[in-house]
Amino acid sequence: MSTERRDGRRRGMTRRKALLLAGAGAVSAGVGAAGLLRGWGSPTSTVSGSPGAVPTGDRFVEPTVIASEGGRLHVTLSAAAGRVTIAGRSVQAMSYNGSVPGPTLRLRPGDRVTLDLVNRLGASTNLHTHGLHVSAERNGDNPFLHIRDGETFRYEYEIPRDHPAGTFWYHPHLHGTVADQLFAGLMGAIVVQRDDSVPLPAQRERVLVITDTTLNGDRIAQANQRGRMLGREGELVLVNGRLKPTMTVSPGGYEHWHIINACTSRFMRLRLEGAELLQVAGDTGRLATPTQVDNILLATGNRAELLVRIPGPGRHQLVAEPVDRGGMGMGLGRGNAGGDTPATLLQVEAAGEAAATPQLPGRLVEPEDLRAVAVNGRRTLTFAMEMGRGMGGGMSFTIDGKEFDPDRVDAAVRLDTVEEWTVRNTSPMNHPFHLHVWPVQLVARDGSPVEGNPQWYDVVILPARSSVTVRVRFTDFPGRTVYHCHILDHEDLGMMGVVEALR
Ligand code: C2O
Ligand code: CU
Ligand code: CU
Repeated sequence: MSTERRDGRRRGMTRRKALLLAGAGAVSAGVGAAGLLRGWGSPTSTVSGSPGAVPTGDRFVEPTVIASEGGRLHVTLSAAAGRVTIAGRSVQAMSYNGSVPGPTLRLRPGDRVTLDLVNRLGASTNLHTHGLHVSAERNGDNPFLHIRDGETFRYEYEIPRDHPAGTFWYHPHLHGTVADQLFAGLMGAIVVQRDDSVPLPAQRERVLVITDTTLNGDRIAQANQRGRMLGREGELVLVNGRLKPTMTVSPGGYEHWHIINACTSRFMRLRLEGAELLQVAGDTGRLATPTQVDNILLATGNRAELLVRIPGPGRHQLVAEPVDRGGMGMGLGRGNAGGDTPATLLQVEAAGEAAATPQLPGRLVEPEDLRAVAVNGRRTLTFAMEMGRGMGGGMSFTIDGKEFDPDRVDAAVRLDTVEEWTVRNTSPMNHPFHLHVWPVQLVARDGSPVEGNPQWYDVVILPARSSVTVRVRFTDFPGRTVYHCHILDHEDLGMMGVVEALR
């Protein structure tokens, strides 16, 4: 097995930036934004044939589960280009182990995971374990690796004994290609289970990986320049690769759902009318108490765990309402390019005798509150979009005025400190702020303190022309990793910085 790896150090323009500028053609610095963007059409190519050509009526299915045993997991993920079934159609796409999503990995704290990534994509890639608190160095969750076509690379992860329970996911992270490879089908769920978690009175657990894509005949549509700038949204919103599948549940009791927004750019507000929804976890770790919610807002990358109860027999729909992500300003289009109508994700059919409603635990965890701790350092990051800057025009997506450079350290932090980061957004579009390895707590929005129980996030929505303040406890893992906008098109365009944790 080849274990060759190289850090992703490339000077100058990123590949994506080069493509973007090439696409912009003869645009000179003097041509306005409207001229640049006019006539680009919809953000992705259109579907050939009517949307009705996509079969519905599938059963709800879950990805294959691969679970650790006795503290070990050895798994091979083969990333390949080829035919897979998406939305009930045979499509030329990219997948892990031949299915979209790839297998669900079930882990426990203390596990040692060996993951062989086989690259048969015909292009370079790598793998990121989004949300896991593991080392980012060497062959850990290292976003700087390039795994070339034809290579197999062995990743190793040690899940700390104190790792929180939660729902996480994996996807490629090779800068410049992340959005394309995720949109093409490369993603999968990770569930970390703790044996000492307060038991939930659920009759079953389910994993729902929500993705979006656009099919162009039997291929995945390519995003155009406008789609990349806005953050592409697919025409089809899928649950575990299926379109509006039907799930059968028993009424009365609770189900425990792990929901992942694995879309490239789409935000969604999930609703399930007629059901009782109790949130028990967000991105990482449990909430203090089961919390009744009417809907759940998930930015790209966010997760939620819900206890779902449908009181009696009947049919219900899980819908994703579109969320306005803002736009490019100057009338150049808006972020919720997927449209303004809710998408039905799932048909939920409650059939049979209603079971008695179980008793819920009062407390789930006692989360640490970073609002109550001493802060060792403060910094401000500014997310911005700038027209006509740099190489002959186009739009730049920057943090502190700079595009991503893997060779530059943007934030050097000390381990065993708590930092407060105020992340500002000067642009007219939302940018979900994501930090690898260390979860954050939200302490203020636009300078106003956030009240209520503490909650851990790894993706925090940064609204247009606004700011969020988060606190981070940097623990355990020295080395370099990244923070970025989780609209992955923006990340590919350069909206990413490097953090280095020093002992
Ligand atoms: Cu899911 Cu660096 O991202
Ligand atoms: Cu991540
Ligand atoms: Cu962004």
